[in-house]
Amino acid sequence: MQNQRKYLITGGCGFIGSSMVRNLLEKGEYVINIDKLTYASNEKSIGDINLQNYKIIKSDINEPNLIQNTLNADKPNYVIHLAAESHVDRSIDDPSNFINTNIVGTYNMIHNSYNYWKNLEKNRRDNFRFIYVSTDEVYGSLNINDQVFTEKSPFRSNSPYAASKASGDLLARAWYKTFKFPIIITNSSNNYGIWQFPEKLIPLVIKKCLKNQEIPVYGDGKQIRDWINVEDNVSGIISVIEKGKIGSSYNIGSTNEISNIELVRLICSILDSIEPKKNGSYEDLISFVKDRPAHDFRYALDVSKMRNDLGWEAKISFNKGLTETIEWYLNNRDWLLNSIENKYDGARLGIIKE
Ligand code: NAD
Ligand code: DAU
Repeated sequence: MQNQRKYLITGGCGFIGSSMVRNLLEKGEYVINIDKLTYASNEKSIGDINLQNYKIIKSDINEPNLIQNTLNADKPNYVIHLAAESHVDRSIDDPSNFINTNIVGTYNMIHNSYNYWKNLEKNRRDNFRFIYVSTDEVYGSLNINDQVFTEKSPFRSNSPYAASKASGDLLARAWYKTFKFPIIITNSSNNYGIWQFPEKLIPLVIKKCLKNQEIPVYGDGKQIRDWINVEDNVSGIISVIEKGKIGSSYNIGSTNEISNIELVRLICSILDSIEPKKNGSYEDLISFVKDRPAHDFRYALDVSKMRNDLGWEAKISFNKGLTETIEWYLNNRDWLLNSIENKYDGARLGIIKE
């Protein structure tokens, strides 16, 4: 293919990474995917389109020689760094993997990519980009009347996960400032969509409904999240690669705030209409459980920088996207119902009941 570009993706067998890989392969791009294949990954999520342009390297990002050799041998035009430990509850139980992957691993990816980039010939060097995929959680928590987070909001991370991601944002900034390494950061809100591991709220609720088990809602369920379809996040990241300003960060969100309890009820009502429960409504399964420690109350993003500077905005309406997502999980229920460790099958150990 003429003008085919090479992307080195980390974490391409995860939820967002696999959506990114599918998107790029469908467009005829070449993808090298470095993934350790943790519990959260699934090789099948890559699909079966254009696999002649796809190479997987099953490795930890904490293998500096392997990362350097891969970069030098495959010569990617872009690196999109998504690999991470991503579940807040796990970071509370055991932060060590979060420090190793999200901080040390991110340093490995940034520094080895910098070593590769600085030796490229000028044209390739000028066009190279390293995208660090971060989260809105770095900004901490909002109250109901607070102004939404902009890219200038201070970092007030509250969980070990959020602090580990914020560390990556700071490393990325430092390599741009110190070495002029062409990094761009994206901070996105909560993603939903297909292939999300069912420890996260939306697939977990669907799973609980199908198993006729209690749906654990933390605290009073009034916490608010700003949900974006994973395909919109992927299109936002691609806009950032193509048009983003080097050294900048971009909030990627859908301006779609909803409280956890409203969301859980919405999922239950969609399921009630697609696959009715034998007796009553799925809502009857809702169970309020002990809260997550330092549970952030509200996330919400100002996305005007993406809209005004890059001409990007989220396109998928939440009701349509959520219904299609639920239908997908129903059609893939074998995977949904069987792919979880018991410890996270409901709520964190020690949280579920007071
Ligand atoms: P995920 O947990 O579904 O997938 C993570 C992937 O990274 C998995 O395939 C896993 O095997 C791989 N991985 C983990 N540790 C690794 C290591 N040491 N070496 C190599 N591979 C490793 O995560 P996700 O939800 O797809 O999130 C992807 C990225 O986007 C993360 O950096 C996350 O912080 C960020 N993010 C996620 C969301 C969200 O709502 N899911 C929102 C904002 C930002
Ligand atoms: O905001 C972006 C972040 O969104 C990403 O950076 C993280 O990787 C991703 O996991 C997600 O973090 P959250 O903590 O918001 O997602 P989670 O699905 O774990 O929880 C969503 C909300 O639902 C949160 O307020 C906690 C609540 N919850 C979660 C679970 C798993 C429950 O009430 N019950 C549950 O069983």
